[in-house]
Amino acid sequence: MLTTIIYRSHICKNVPFTSVMDMVAVANVKNAQADVTGILLFNGTHFFQLIEGPEASVLNVYQHICQDARHHNIVELLCDYAPARRFGKAGMELFDLREYEGHEVLQAVLDKGTTKYQLIYNDRALKFLRTFVESTEKENYFEIPPADSWVFVTGAKKLSHTSVHTGAVVPENAADCSFAFQPMVDPFAQKILSTEALLRTPGGDSPASYFAGLSGNALYEADLNSKKVAFAMARALNLGEHSVSVNLFPMTLVMVPDAVDFLLREIQLNGLVPEQVTVEFTESEVISRIDEFTGAIRQLKGAGISVAIDHFGAGFGGLLLLAQFQPDRIKINSELIKNVHKSGPRQAIIQAIIKCCASLEISISAVGVEKVEEWMWLESAGITQFQGNLFASACLNGISAVAWPERKADL
Ligand SMILES: Cc1cc2nc3c(=O)[nH]c(=O)nc-3n(C[C@H](O)[C@H](O)[C@H](O)COP(=O)(O)O)c2cc1C
Repeated sequence: MLTTIIYRSHICKNVPFTSVMDMVAVANVKNAQADVTGILLFNGTHFFQLIEGPEASVLNVYQHICQDARHHNIVELLCDYAPARRFGKAGMELFDLREYEGHEVLQAVLDKGTTKYQLIYNDRALKFLRTFVESTEKENYFEIPPADSWVFVTGAKKLSHTSVHTGAVVPENAADCSFAFQPMVDPFAQKILSTEALLRTPGGDSPASYFAGLSGNALYEADLNSKKVAFAMARALNLGEHSVSVNLFPMTLVMVPDAVDFLLREIQLNGLVPEQVTVEFTESEVISRIDEFTGAIRQLKGAGISVAIDHFGAGFGGLLLLAQFQPDRIKINSELIKNVHKSGPRQAIIQAIIKCCASLEISISAVGVEKVEEWMWLESAGITQFQGNLFASACLNGISAVAWPERKADL
């Protein structure tokens, strides 16, 4: 099937333009052999390339292009199917935008196109092309340093509160569940901002195993009761003034009578204060009784407990939830974070979330961060709070030490 890929990238330092022209001459021949056609635009700093042809050939060429050391920060903008080629005349036509003035640029590029599509701006691929040619500000084209310019130094020495117990603690007697704790950090400030208590079976299995076989009220009661263990373990870990967050099904608050009072009692019994506790809701469960849920949220907030939406952007009605009630924080789903540095659609969605939350004064954190490049892109976009294995993995019955990033030149 005829497939189109569009990406943009930065040329690497010390790569002369003549070597780009040589590369294009070779690419032209190789693309023609593979029945791939396209156009390559260059503005002195950035490349913008459209390649089209049979799916397998396009993916193969793109894979080689992504590994090419002459450019970096490669961001895929579009991968789509079309009935006909936009630029079917040549294997690869290079276009140096610096040779053109004003409006003549776009027309000159479109003149290279396959006639039928020359002026159809509704076509998404041509819209991308037009935007690249016409926008002089490339403020969203973050140039992130290579991953190997960082080292991660593990240790608790830079914590603002060194009292945190990083060893293991044992859940209270007869507890049928346990918790793994994972810190949320501000890597540049080298601060632990809070710690999430993640439900596990006593042997460390997932929440799904813990809830297996439970349904209806029994499930919601087990969910709520498990927080007794979470707060007791938080006390044993000596979290001091650190914030702690726990997860709840939205329906637990609705279905279990006096659930908020139960939480407040357990918080107090364990020497914590409501202001240091956040309750996270996952939006994957449809909130069928939104009025009662909103009432319970009001009670939580009225008592000083903060509210967060976990896995934001992944489940049902994420945006609608922001209209129905405003949480103090959202945690962006790890599926959106994954390879964000390489994906135009993920970047656009996250930038929209950041803008929306800035208008609503809602804090944002990114969870499931595993790669240096993901973290660097998110920092460039303005996110400062992170949770993920890159910094500290979830640790059953304890808290792992955090790996803090240091720029190699700074060491
Ligand atoms: C901006 C840019 C665009 C490129 N476009 C193509 C292309 O369209 N087709 C192609 O075969 N190689 C292209 N290349 C070169 C490939 O990255 C790679 O060098 C070439 O496929 C040979 O790969 P190989 O040495 O692994 O066989 C491009 C390189 C750069 C930096």
